[in-house]
Amino acid sequence: MLKTFYIETFGCQMNVHDSEKVAGTLLRFGYQPVDNVEEADLVFYNTCSIREKAAQKVFSRLGQFRKARAEGKIFGVLGCVAQQEGEKIFEAVPHVNLVVGSASYNRLPELLAQLERGGRRLTGLSLDTDQTFETEFTRRENPFRAYITIIEGCDKHCAYCVVPFTRGPERSRTSRSVIEETRRLAGDGYTEIQLLGQNVNSYRDPSPSRVSFAELLTRVAEVPGIRRVRFTTSHPRDFCREIVAVLDSRPVLCNHVHLPVQSGSTRVLAAMRRRYTRAEYLDLVARIRAAIPNVTLSTDMIVGFPGETAADFEETLSLVEAVQYHSMFSFKYSARPNTLASRRMADDVSEPEKTARILRLQALQRGIQTRLHEHALGTTVDVLVDAASRRRSGEISGRTTGNTVVNFPPPPLAQGRRPAEWIGSIVPVTIRRAGPNSVWGEAAGASGGSTAAS
Ligand code: SAH
Ligand code: SF4
Ligand code: F3S
Repeated sequence: MLKTFYIETFGCQMNVHDSEKVAGTLLRFGYQPVDNVEEADLVFYNTCSIREKAAQKVFSRLGQFRKARAEGKIFGVLGCVAQQEGEKIFEAVPHVNLVVGSASYNRLPELLAQLERGGRRLTGLSLDTDQTFETEFTRRENPFRAYITIIEGCDKHCAYCVVPFTRGPERSRTSRSVIEETRRLAGDGYTEIQLLGQNVNSYRDPSPSRVSFAELLTRVAEVPGIRRVRFTTSHPRDFCREIVAVLDSRPVLCNHVHLPVQSGSTRVLAAMRRRYTRAEYLDLVARIRAAIPNVTLSTDMIVGFPGETAADFEETLSLVEAVQYHSMFSFKYSARPNTLASRRMADDVSEPEKTARILRLQALQRGIQTRLHEHALGTTVDVLVDAASRRRSGEISGRTTGNTVVNFPPPPLAQGRRPAEWIGSIVPVTIRRAGPNSVWGEAAGASGGSTAAS
Protein backbone atom coordinates (compact mmCIF):
# COMPACT_ATOMS: atom_id res chain seq x y z
CA MET A 1 0.00 0.00 0.00
CA LEU A 2 1.42 3.41 -0.98
CA LYS A 3 1.11 5.83 1.87
CA THR A 4 3.64 8.63 1.70
CA PHE A 5 4.13 11.18 -1.08
CA TYR A 6 6.58 13.81 -2.23
CA ILE A 7 5.84 16.50 -4.87
CA GLU A 8 8.38 18.74 -6.57
CA THR A 9 6.97 21.61 -8.62
CA PHE A 10 8.52 23.45 -11.57
CA GLY A 11 7.11 26.38 -13.54
CA CYS A 12 4.55 29.09 -12.93
CA GLN A 13 2.24 29.96 -10.04
CA MET A 14 -0.55 27.98 -11.65
CA ASN A 15 1.59 24.87 -11.34
CA VAL A 16 2.42 25.76 -7.74
CA HIS A 17 -1.28 26.03 -6.99
CA ASP A 18 -2.13 22.85 -8.91
CA SER A 19 0.39 21.04 -6.70
CA GLU A 20 -1.39 22.41 -3.62
CA LYS A 21 -4.60 20.90 -4.94
CA VAL A 22 -2.94 17.60 -5.85
CA ALA A 23 -1.34 17.44 -2.37
CA GLY A 24 -4.74 18.14 -0.78
CA THR A 25 -6.31 15.36 -2.82
CA LEU A 26 -3.57 12.91 -1.74
CA LEU A 27 -4.04 13.87 1.92
CA ARG A 28 -7.75 13.27 1.54
CA PHE A 29 -7.00 9.76 0.33
CA GLY A 30 -4.85 8.96 3.34
CA TYR A 31 -1.37 9.74 2.03
CA GLN A 32 1.13 11.55 4.24
CA PRO A 33 3.53 14.22 2.88
CA VAL A 34 7.28 13.75 3.32
CA ASP A 35 9.95 16.23 2.29
CA ASN A 36 12.31 14.01 0.32
CA VAL A 37 12.18 11.34 -2.36
CA GLU A 38 13.93 8.72 -0.21
CA GLU A 39 11.08 8.49 2.30
CA ALA A 40 8.28 8.69 -0.27
CA ASP A 41 6.26 5.78 -1.69
CA LEU A 42 4.76 8.04 -4.35
CA VAL A 43 6.90 10.69 -6.09
CA PHE A 44 5.22 13.32 -8.28
CA TYR A 45 6.98 15.87 -10.48
CA ASN A 46 4.70 18.70 -11.60
CA THR A 47 6.52 19.87 -14.69
CA CYS A 48 6.98 22.95 -16.88
CA SER A 49 7.65 23.02 -20.60
CA ILE A 50 7.83 26.75 -21.29
CA ARG A 51 11.50 26.62 -22.36
CA GLU A 52 13.64 23.64 -23.29
CA LYS A 53 15.76 23.90 -20.15
CA ALA A 54 12.69 23.81 -17.93
CA ALA A 55 11.43 20.69 -19.68
CA GLN A 56 14.77 18.91 -19.30
CA LYS A 57 14.78 19.28 -15.53
CA VAL A 58 12.26 16.53 -14.94
CA PHE A 59 14.28 14.03 -16.97
CA SER A 60 17.42 14.79 -14.98
CA ARG A 61 15.45 14.30 -11.74
CA LEU A 62 14.00 11.01 -12.96
CA GLY A 63 17.49 9.91 -14.02
CA GLN A 64 18.79 10.48 -10.49
CA PHE A 65 16.26 8.03 -9.07
CA ARG A 66 16.41 5.23 -11.62
CA LYS A 67 17.29 2.68 -8.94
CA ALA A 68 14.37 3.72 -6.77
CA ARG A 69 11.89 1.66 -8.77
CA ALA A 70 13.46 -1.49 -7.37
CA GLU A 71 12.50 -0.18 -3.93
CA GLY A 72 8.85 -0.13 -4.98
CA LYS A 73 8.48 3.62 -5.38
CA ILE A 74 5.93 4.91 -7.85
CA PHE A 75 6.89 7.89 -10.02
CA GLY A 76 4.34 10.18 -11.65
CA VAL A 77 4.90 13.00 -14.14
CA LEU A 78 2.25 15.73 -13.98
CA GLY A 79 1.77 19.08 -15.69
CA CYS A 80 2.96 20.56 -18.94
CA VAL A 81 5.72 18.09 -19.91
CA ALA A 82 3.31 15.23 -19.15
CA GLN A 83 0.73 16.70 -21.51
CA GLN A 84 3.31 17.43 -24.19
CA GLU A 85 5.25 14.16 -24.18
CA GLY A 86 2.41 11.82 -23.14
CA GLU A 87 3.13 8.11 -23.31
CA LYS A 88 6.59 8.72 -24.79
CA ILE A 89 7.66 9.35 -21.18
CA PHE A 90 7.11 5.64 -20.37
CA GLU A 91 9.50 4.71 -23.17
CA ALA A 92 12.12 7.24 -22.15
CA VAL A 93 11.91 6.51 -18.42
CA PRO A 94 10.50 3.04 -17.72
CA HIS A 95 10.17 3.59 -13.97
CA VAL A 96 7.42 6.21 -14.50
CA ASN A 97 3.97 4.79 -13.84
CA LEU A 98 1.66 7.76 -14.19
CA VAL A 99 1.55 10.60 -16.74
CA VAL A 100 -1.18 13.20 -16.18
CA GLY A 101 -1.71 16.64 -17.77
CA SER A 102 -3.26 19.50 -15.81
CA ALA A 103 -6.60 19.28 -17.66
CA SER A 104 -7.08 15.76 -16.27
CA TYR A 105 -6.41 16.25 -12.55
CA ASN A 106 -10.10 15.70 -11.85
CA ARG A 107 -9.35 12.06 -12.54
CA LEU A 108 -6.67 11.79 -9.83
CA PRO A 109 -8.83 9.96 -7.25
CA GLU A 110 -9.71 7.32 -9.83
CA LEU A 111 -6.08 7.04 -11.03
CA LEU A 112 -4.84 6.72 -7.44
CA ALA A 113 -7.30 3.90 -6.83
CA GLN A 114 -5.97 2.13 -9.95
CA LEU A 115 -2.37 2.59 -8.77
CA GLU A 116 -3.26 1.09 -5.42
CA ARG A 117 -4.75 -1.93 -7.16
CA GLY A 118 -1.39 -2.39 -8.93
CA GLY A 119 -2.24 -0.51 -12.13
CA ARG A 120 0.84 0.68 -14.03
CA ARG A 121 1.49 3.03 -16.95
CA LEU A 122 -1.65 5.03 -16.33
CA THR A 123 -2.40 8.21 -18.25
CA GLY A 124 -4.70 11.23 -18.05
CA LEU A 125 -4.01 13.23 -21.19
CA SER A 126 -7.30 14.46 -22.60
CA LEU A 127 -7.44 18.17 -23.42
CA ASP A 128 -11.06 18.25 -24.62
CA THR A 129 -12.57 18.96 -21.29
CA ASP A 130 -14.58 22.02 -20.36
CA GLN A 131 -13.97 21.37 -16.68
CA THR A 132 -11.70 23.23 -14.29
CA PHE A 133 -9.75 21.59 -11.48
CA GLU A 134 -11.73 22.53 -8.40
CA THR A 135 -11.40 20.72 -5.14
CA GLU A 136 -12.18 21.46 -1.53
CA PHE A 137 -9.08 19.46 -0.52
CA THR A 138 -6.42 22.10 -1.37
CA ARG A 139 -3.43 22.14 0.98
CA ARG A 140 -2.08 25.70 0.79
CA GLU A 141 1.59 26.26 1.62
CA ASN A 142 1.23 29.82 2.94
CA PRO A 143 -1.27 30.47 5.78
CA PHE A 144 -1.99 34.10 4.75
CA ARG A 145 -1.62 34.37 0.98
CA ALA A 146 -3.86 32.14 -1.10
CA TYR A 147 -3.86 31.44 -4.82
CA ILE A 148 -7.19 30.95 -6.57
CA THR A 149 -7.22 29.87 -10.22
CA ILE A 150 -10.04 31.69 -12.05
CA ILE A 151 -9.28 30.63 -15.63
CA GLU A 152 -7.31 27.69 -17.00
CA GLY A 153 -5.76 27.20 -20.43
CA CYS A 154 -5.13 29.83 -23.10
CA ASP A 155 -6.60 30.59 -26.53
CA LYS A 156 -4.13 33.28 -27.57
CA HIS A 157 -1.63 31.08 -29.41
CA CYS A 158 1.32 33.46 -29.33
CA ALA A 159 3.75 32.11 -31.94
CA TYR A 160 6.44 31.02 -29.45
CA CYS A 161 4.27 29.59 -26.67
CA VAL A 162 3.56 26.01 -25.72
CA VAL A 163 0.85 26.79 -23.12
CA PRO A 164 -2.20 26.43 -25.42
CA PHE A 165 -0.93 22.91 -26.24
CA THR A 166 -0.09 21.89 -22.68
CA ARG A 167 -3.03 23.44 -20.84
CA GLY A 168 -5.69 23.37 -23.51
CA PRO A 169 -8.44 25.86 -24.33
CA GLU A 170 -9.63 28.56 -21.93
CA ARG A 171 -12.10 27.48 -19.24
CA SER A 172 -13.29 29.89 -16.53
CA ARG A 173 -14.61 29.05 -13.08
CA THR A 174 -17.99 30.40 -12.04
CA SER A 175 -17.82 33.73 -10.21
CA ARG A 176 -19.87 32.16 -7.45
CA SER A 177 -17.34 29.44 -6.72
CA VAL A 178 -14.50 32.02 -6.76
CA ILE A 179 -16.33 34.25 -4.24
CA GLU A 180 -17.30 31.29 -2.05
CA GLU A 181 -13.69 30.10 -1.94
CA THR A 182 -12.53 33.64 -1.07
CA ARG A 183 -15.07 33.80 1.81
CA ARG A 184 -13.92 30.43 3.12
CA LEU A 185 -10.29 31.52 2.94
CA ALA A 186 -11.01 34.82 4.73
CA GLY A 187 -12.77 32.79 7.45
CA ASP A 188 -9.62 30.67 7.79
CA GLY A 189 -7.47 33.79 8.33
CA TYR A 190 -6.11 34.41 4.82
CA THR A 191 -5.55 38.12 4.13
CA GLU A 192 -4.17 38.15 0.58
CA ILE A 193 -5.74 36.58 -2.50
CA GLN A 194 -3.93 36.10 -5.79
CA LEU A 195 -6.20 35.36 -8.71
CA LEU A 196 -4.45 33.23 -11.30
CA GLY A 197 -4.77 32.51 -14.99
CA GLN A 198 -2.52 32.51 -18.07
CA ASN A 199 -4.65 35.40 -19.20
CA VAL A 200 -6.98 36.61 -16.44
CA ASN A 201 -8.50 39.36 -18.61
CA SER A 202 -10.12 36.69 -20.77
CA TYR A 203 -12.16 35.57 -17.76
CA ARG A 204 -15.74 34.72 -18.86
CA ASP A 205 -18.10 33.76 -16.08
CA PRO A 206 -19.80 30.55 -17.28
CA SER A 207 -22.81 31.10 -14.98
CA PRO A 208 -25.89 33.10 -16.07
CA SER A 209 -24.81 36.11 -13.98
CA ARG A 210 -21.94 36.71 -16.49
CA VAL A 211 -19.81 38.65 -14.01
CA SER A 212 -16.94 40.44 -15.82
CA PHE A 213 -13.32 40.17 -14.63
CA ALA A 214 -13.47 43.75 -13.30
CA GLU A 215 -16.66 42.95 -11.38
CA LEU A 216 -15.11 39.75 -10.03
CA LEU A 217 -12.13 41.77 -8.76
CA THR A 218 -14.52 44.13 -6.99
CA ARG A 219 -16.46 41.31 -5.36
CA VAL A 220 -13.32 39.50 -4.18
CA ALA A 221 -12.00 42.79 -2.77
CA GLU A 222 -15.26 43.30 -0.85
CA VAL A 223 -15.01 40.03 1.10
CA PRO A 224 -14.52 41.01 4.76
CA GLY A 225 -11.06 40.13 6.06
CA ILE A 226 -9.36 40.29 2.63
CA ARG A 227 -6.81 43.09 2.70
CA ARG A 228 -4.98 42.62 -0.58
CA VAL A 229 -5.94 41.21 -3.95
CA ARG A 230 -3.46 40.60 -6.76
CA PHE A 231 -3.96 38.97 -10.14
CA THR A 232 -1.72 37.59 -12.84
CA THR A 233 -1.21 37.45 -15.82
CA SER A 234 -2.82 40.26 -17.82
CA HIS A 235 -2.63 40.28 -21.60
CA PRO A 236 -2.20 43.89 -22.83
CA ARG A 237 -4.69 43.33 -25.62
CA ASP A 238 -7.58 42.64 -23.20
CA PHE A 239 -6.72 45.11 -20.45
CA CYS A 240 -9.87 47.23 -20.73
CA ARG A 241 -10.92 50.56 -19.20
CA GLU A 242 -13.27 48.84 -16.78
CA ILE A 243 -10.33 47.04 -15.13
CA VAL A 244 -8.30 50.27 -14.89
CA ALA A 245 -11.27 51.98 -13.24
CA VAL A 246 -11.84 49.33 -10.54
CA LEU A 247 -8.15 49.15 -9.65
CA ASP A 248 -8.22 52.85 -8.86
CA SER A 249 -11.45 52.68 -6.86
CA ARG A 250 -10.56 49.89 -4.39
CA PRO A 251 -7.54 50.20 -2.10
CA VAL A 252 -7.64 46.45 -1.42
CA LEU A 253 -6.82 45.86 -5.10
CA CYS A 254 -3.04 46.16 -5.31
CA ASN A 255 -1.39 48.98 -7.22
CA HIS A 256 0.59 46.61 -9.39
CA VAL A 257 -0.02 45.27 -12.86
CA HIS A 258 2.06 42.52 -14.46
CA LEU A 259 1.73 43.39 -18.13
CA PRO A 260 4.04 41.22 -20.26
CA VAL A 261 5.14 43.04 -23.40
CA GLN A 262 7.66 40.46 -24.79
CA SER A 263 9.31 42.91 -27.25
CA GLY A 264 9.55 46.63 -27.95
CA SER A 265 9.48 46.19 -31.73
CA THR A 266 6.13 46.30 -33.53
CA ARG A 267 7.57 44.09 -36.26
CA VAL A 268 8.60 41.39 -33.76
CA LEU A 269 5.31 41.72 -31.86
CA ALA A 270 3.47 41.03 -35.12
CA ALA A 271 5.65 37.96 -35.80
CA MET A 272 4.97 36.81 -32.23
CA ARG A 273 1.19 37.19 -32.86
CA ARG A 274 0.83 39.35 -29.75
CA ARG A 275 -1.97 41.42 -31.36
CA TYR A 276 -0.80 44.86 -30.22
CA THR A 277 1.79 47.33 -31.47
CA ARG A 278 4.49 49.12 -29.50
CA ALA A 279 2.43 52.34 -29.72
CA GLU A 280 -0.74 50.62 -28.46
CA TYR A 281 1.15 49.11 -25.54
CA LEU A 282 2.70 52.47 -24.59
CA ASP A 283 -0.72 54.08 -24.87
CA LEU A 284 -2.17 51.48 -22.48
CA VAL A 285 0.68 52.11 -20.02
CA ALA A 286 -0.03 55.86 -20.18
CA ARG A 287 -3.73 55.29 -19.52
CA ILE A 288 -3.03 53.00 -16.55
CA ARG A 289 -0.54 55.50 -15.11
CA ALA A 290 -2.93 58.43 -15.58
CA ALA A 291 -5.77 56.60 -13.83
CA ILE A 292 -3.88 54.92 -10.97
CA PRO A 293 -1.44 57.10 -9.05
CA ASN A 294 1.72 55.25 -7.91
CA VAL A 295 0.89 52.12 -9.90
CA THR A 296 3.88 49.85 -10.51
CA LEU A 297 4.32 47.79 -13.65
CA SER A 298 6.26 44.61 -14.28
CA THR A 299 6.77 42.63 -17.47
CA ASP A 300 8.12 39.58 -19.28
CA MET A 301 10.53 39.98 -22.18
CA ILE A 302 11.86 37.55 -24.79
CA VAL A 303 15.17 38.26 -26.56
CA GLY A 304 16.35 36.56 -29.75
CA PHE A 305 12.92 35.71 -31.17
CA PRO A 306 13.34 34.44 -34.79
CA GLY A 307 14.21 37.36 -37.05
CA GLU A 308 14.91 39.82 -34.20
CA THR A 309 17.51 42.25 -35.59
CA ALA A 310 19.90 44.46 -33.65
CA ALA A 311 17.56 47.37 -34.46
CA ASP A 312 14.53 45.47 -33.11
CA PHE A 313 16.42 44.78 -29.92
CA GLU A 314 17.29 48.49 -29.56
CA GLU A 315 13.53 49.11 -29.61
CA THR A 316 13.12 46.68 -26.72
CA LEU A 317 15.75 48.64 -24.77
CA SER A 318 14.11 51.97 -25.55
CA LEU A 319 10.69 50.67 -24.52
CA VAL A 320 12.11 49.48 -21.19
CA GLU A 321 13.66 52.92 -20.70
CA ALA A 322 10.33 54.57 -21.54
CA VAL A 323 8.13 52.40 -19.30
CA GLN A 324 10.38 52.17 -16.20
CA TYR A 325 9.23 48.76 -14.96
CA HIS A 326 9.62 47.92 -11.28
CA SER A 327 10.58 44.38 -12.21
CA MET A 328 11.08 42.19 -15.23
CA PHE A 329 11.45 38.52 -16.12
CA SER A 330 13.59 38.13 -19.23
CA PHE A 331 14.16 35.01 -21.30
CA LYS A 332 16.16 33.88 -24.31
CA TYR A 333 13.87 32.54 -27.01
CA SER A 334 13.62 28.76 -26.95
CA ALA A 335 11.87 26.86 -29.76
CA ARG A 336 9.01 24.73 -28.40
CA PRO A 337 7.23 21.76 -29.96
CA ASN A 338 4.07 22.39 -32.03
CA THR A 339 4.30 26.18 -31.86
CA LEU A 340 3.94 28.33 -34.96
CA ALA A 341 7.44 29.75 -34.46
CA SER A 342 9.06 26.33 -34.24
CA ARG A 343 7.20 25.10 -37.33
CA ARG A 344 7.64 28.14 -39.56
CA MET A 345 10.50 30.30 -38.31
CA ALA A 346 14.22 29.59 -38.11
CA ASP A 347 15.76 30.03 -34.65
CA ASP A 348 18.26 32.35 -36.32
CA VAL A 349 19.64 34.53 -33.53
CA SER A 350 22.82 32.80 -32.34
CA GLU A 351 23.17 31.68 -28.73
CA PRO A 352 26.07 34.11 -28.01
CA GLU A 353 23.99 36.95 -29.47
CA LYS A 354 20.97 36.00 -27.33
CA THR A 355 23.24 35.98 -24.30
CA ALA A 356 24.74 39.37 -25.16
CA ARG A 357 21.24 40.84 -25.61
CA ILE A 358 19.79 39.45 -22.40
CA LEU A 359 22.80 40.71 -20.41
CA ARG A 360 22.35 44.23 -21.82
CA LEU A 361 18.65 44.14 -21.09
CA GLN A 362 19.16 42.92 -17.54
CA ALA A 363 21.85 45.54 -16.84
CA LEU A 364 19.51 48.30 -18.05
CA GLN A 365 16.66 46.95 -15.93
CA ARG A 366 18.84 46.63 -12.81
CA GLY A 367 19.75 50.32 -13.09
CA ILE A 368 16.10 51.31 -13.50
CA GLN A 369 14.99 49.25 -10.50
CA THR A 370 17.74 50.69 -8.32
CA ARG A 371 16.75 54.25 -9.25
CA LEU A 372 13.05 53.57 -8.65
CA HIS A 373 13.89 52.13 -5.24
CA GLU A 374 16.11 55.13 -4.44
CA HIS A 375 13.16 57.43 -5.16
CA ALA A 376 11.30 55.69 -2.34
CA LEU A 377 13.99 56.54 0.29
CA GLY A 378 12.47 58.35 3.27
CA THR A 379 8.88 57.44 2.39
CA THR A 380 6.69 55.28 4.65
CA VAL A 381 4.89 52.37 3.05
CA ASP A 382 2.51 49.67 4.31
CA VAL A 383 4.18 46.26 4.18
CA LEU A 384 2.24 43.01 4.36
CA VAL A 385 4.75 40.70 6.04
CA ASP A 386 5.07 37.40 4.23
CA ALA A 387 8.38 35.90 5.38
CA ALA A 388 11.06 35.85 7.98
CA SER A 389 13.89 37.19 5.79
CA ARG A 390 16.13 34.50 4.43
CA ARG A 391 19.19 36.71 4.16
CA ARG A 392 19.54 38.01 7.68
CA SER A 393 18.28 36.16 10.68
CA GLY A 394 15.93 38.25 12.81
CA GLU A 395 14.75 40.34 9.84
CA ILE A 396 11.28 40.08 8.45
CA SER A 397 10.19 40.93 4.93
CA GLY A 398 7.05 41.61 2.99
CA ARG A 399 5.62 43.49 0.05
CA THR A 400 4.09 46.87 -0.59
CA THR A 401 0.85 47.15 -2.54
CA GLY A 402 3.12 47.89 -5.54
CA ASN A 403 4.90 44.54 -4.98
CA THR A 404 8.26 45.96 -3.80
CA VAL A 405 10.04 43.61 -1.38
CA VAL A 406 10.85 45.41 1.91
CA ASN A 407 13.17 43.94 4.58
CA PHE A 408 13.23 45.29 8.13
CA PRO A 409 13.92 44.29 11.73
CA PRO A 410 10.79 43.62 13.82
CA PRO A 411 9.54 46.77 15.63
CA PRO A 412 11.46 47.39 18.91
CA LEU A 413 8.36 47.44 21.16
CA ALA A 414 7.54 43.93 20.13
CA GLN A 415 10.91 42.21 20.23
CA GLY A 416 9.37 39.35 22.18
CA ARG A 417 7.45 38.30 19.10
CA ARG A 418 9.34 35.77 16.99
CA PRO A 419 9.99 36.92 13.38
CA ALA A 420 7.66 34.26 11.98
CA GLU A 421 4.78 35.55 14.13
CA TRP A 422 4.71 38.77 12.08
CA ILE A 423 3.67 36.96 8.95
CA GLY A 424 0.24 38.23 7.87
CA SER A 425 0.51 41.63 9.64
CA ILE A 426 0.57 44.96 7.83
CA VAL A 427 3.36 47.19 9.18
CA PRO A 428 4.16 50.80 8.14
CA VAL A 429 7.87 50.91 7.28
CA THR A 430 10.12 53.89 6.47
CA ILE A 431 12.53 53.08 3.63
CA ARG A 432 16.19 53.75 4.50
CA ARG A 433 18.27 51.81 1.96
CA ALA A 434 17.70 50.77 -1.65
CA GLY A 435 19.06 47.83 -3.64
CA PRO A 436 18.22 46.59 -7.14
CA ASN A 437 15.86 43.84 -6.02
CA SER A 438 14.52 45.03 -2.68
CA VAL A 439 14.70 47.83 -0.10
CA TRP A 440 15.47 47.97 3.62
CA GLY A 441 13.73 50.04 6.25
CA GLU A 442 12.58 50.37 9.83
CA ALA A 443 9.09 49.95 11.25
CA ALA A 444 7.29 53.24 11.78
CA GLY A 445 4.87 51.48 14.24
CA ALA A 446 3.26 48.05 14.19
CA SER A 447 -0.39 47.54 13.42
CA GLY A 448 -0.40 43.91 14.56
CA GLY A 449 -2.66 43.02 11.70
CA SER A 450 -5.47 45.57 11.85
CA THR A 451 -4.69 48.52 9.54
CA ALA A 452 -6.42 48.73 6.19
CA ALA A 453 -4.18 48.15 3.18
CA SER A 454 -3.28 51.24 1.20
N1 SAH B 1 0.40 33.98 -19.99
C1 SAH B 1 1.46 34.79 -19.73
C2 SAH B 1 2.78 34.11 -19.44
C3 SAH B 1 3.09 32.84 -20.09
S1 SAH B 1 4.61 32.04 -19.80
C4 SAH B 1 1.55 35.82 -20.85
O1 SAH B 1 0.83 35.76 -21.79
O2 SAH B 1 2.36 36.70 -20.78
C5 SAH B 1 5.68 33.18 -19.02
C6 SAH B 1 6.66 33.85 -19.93
O3 SAH B 1 7.56 32.91 -20.48
C7 SAH B 1 6.08 34.57 -21.11
O4 SAH B 1 5.51 35.78 -20.79
C8 SAH B 1 7.28 34.69 -22.02
O5 SAH B 1 8.00 35.85 -21.74
C9 SAH B 1 8.12 33.48 -21.66
N2 SAH B 1 8.10 32.47 -22.72
C10 SAH B 1 7.02 31.79 -23.18
N3 SAH B 1 7.39 30.97 -24.19
C11 SAH B 1 8.72 31.15 -24.37
C12 SAH B 1 9.68 30.60 -25.28
N4 SAH B 1 9.33 29.71 -26.19
N5 SAH B 1 10.97 31.02 -25.18
C13 SAH B 1 11.33 31.93 -24.25
N6 SAH B 1 10.48 32.49 -23.38
C14 SAH B 1 9.18 32.10 -23.43
FE1 SF4 C 1 1.38 31.81 -23.96
FE2 SF4 C 1 0.50 33.97 -25.22
FE3 SF4 C 1 -1.20 32.41 -23.87
FE4 SF4 C 1 0.55 33.87 -22.55
S1 SF4 C 1 -1.12 34.66 -23.83
S2 SF4 C 1 0.07 31.73 -22.17
S3 SF4 C 1 2.34 33.86 -23.87
S4 SF4 C 1 -0.06 31.85 -25.69
FE1 F3S D 1 5.36 26.16 -17.46
FE2 F3S D 1 3.04 25.09 -17.96
FE3 F3S D 1 3.21 27.19 -16.38
S1 F3S D 1 4.64 25.35 -19.41
S2 F3S D 1 4.96 28.27 -17.18
S3 F3S D 1 4.03 25.22 -15.98
S4 F3S D 1 1.60 26.74 -17.82
